Amino acid sequence: MTDITKLMRPHLVKVATYHGVDPSEELARSAGIKPEDVIRLNANENPYGAPGAVHDALKNIEVHLYPDPEQRKLRTKLAEYTGQPIGRVMAGAGGDEIIDLLLRLFTEPGQKLIDCEPTFGMYAFCARIADAPVVMVPRKDDWSIDLDGVLTAIDDRTRLIFLASPNNPTGNLLTEIEARTLLDTGLILAVDETYFEFCGKTLCHLLDEYENLVILRSFSKWAGIAGLRVGYCIGSETLIGHLMDIKQPYNINAAAEAAAIAALDNRDDVLQRANTLIEQRKRLEATLDGLAGVKFYPSEGNFLLCRFEGRSAKEVYEALGRRGIFVRLFEKDRLENALRISAGTPEQTDRLVAVLTEILS
Ligand SMILES: Cc1ncc(COP(=O)(O)O)c(C=O)c1O
Repeated sequence: MTDITKLMRPHLVKVATYHGVDPSEELARSAGIKPEDVIRLNANENPYGAPGAVHDALKNIEVHLYPDPEQRKLRTKLAEYTGQPIGRVMAGAGGDEIIDLLLRLFTEPGQKLIDCEPTFGMYAFCARIADAPVVMVPRKDDWSIDLDGVLTAIDDRTRLIFLASPNNPTGNLLTEIEARTLLDTGLILAVDETYFEFCGKTLCHLLDEYENLVILRSFSKWAGIAGLRVGYCIGSETLIGHLMDIKQPYNINAAAEAAAIAALDNRDDVLQRANTLIEQRKRLEATLDGLAGVKFYPSEGNFLLCRFEGRSAKEVYEALGRRGIFVRLFEKDRLENALRISAGTPEQTDRLVAVLTEILS
């Protein structure tokens, strides 16, 4: 028998799987409960889902036809939503696809990406797939980036810097001064604003000054359509033109396109749900403030990074899981003993607060 792995690209044979979140049925099975009793606070999803208008839009899709490869309707809406010309926006199958496309567009094997951990794992994952070495410049203790460290790490093989703002999982923002300093290096700076709608803070205004800036956004978190996979990016016409050239022609499927357009058409309703999540995050902060043995970091997103003292985060994670509440456990390095908890509905927060109080007291 041929060993087909010998025919594969060597760096891909040993690439480690990116473990995404399990479906609710699996979580329920692990906890020995019913899927409908699962409380998913592990992926920063929007537990309210999308409003009725989005579901209505999904009923009328011509599923036998290919979707528009130019994404005309969606890009027109995105242009209006972001206040940018249509030539500066492009949609992707989630922000994830755009991260992948940027790595493909800007790196040849051996050309580097700078990543500031702890952060979203997809930047390093896509870099590994692209055979682009990842240069890690750890964040400082307050989770701000080590700007001098990043500048020192740059060499003639560096192509891209990825920074999330707010950062997942630490919740803090990239400042305009930091962004300008990095943009002045002339490298591509991808600012990932996946959680923009929860904080309203953007660096989009810098696009007029910097051709090397690209902003990433998503419909997964605020708009409640993570399952349909829609993200987008905003960049110079040159950058967007080249991304349009290399993307798969039908990367936004018809259902995803219809849902994203309906979400934008009904943005007041959608944003209302996002605001409720922020209220719930604040409620959770108030509760955690009163509990001993846990601290949390200020967050601009729909999640809170918590650290435990006197007991391991794993212990808390497992105790929550046994009661059907699933959060994100980090066990490694700077995130040892930390959990990220997504904001939920008021009912989910009630249950979370009751269970956490029981576990921690
Ligand atoms: C910072 C950040 N960027 C991008 C994504 C990917 O989002 P999408 O569902 O649009 O691929 C996530 C998802 O968790 C994220 O936290």
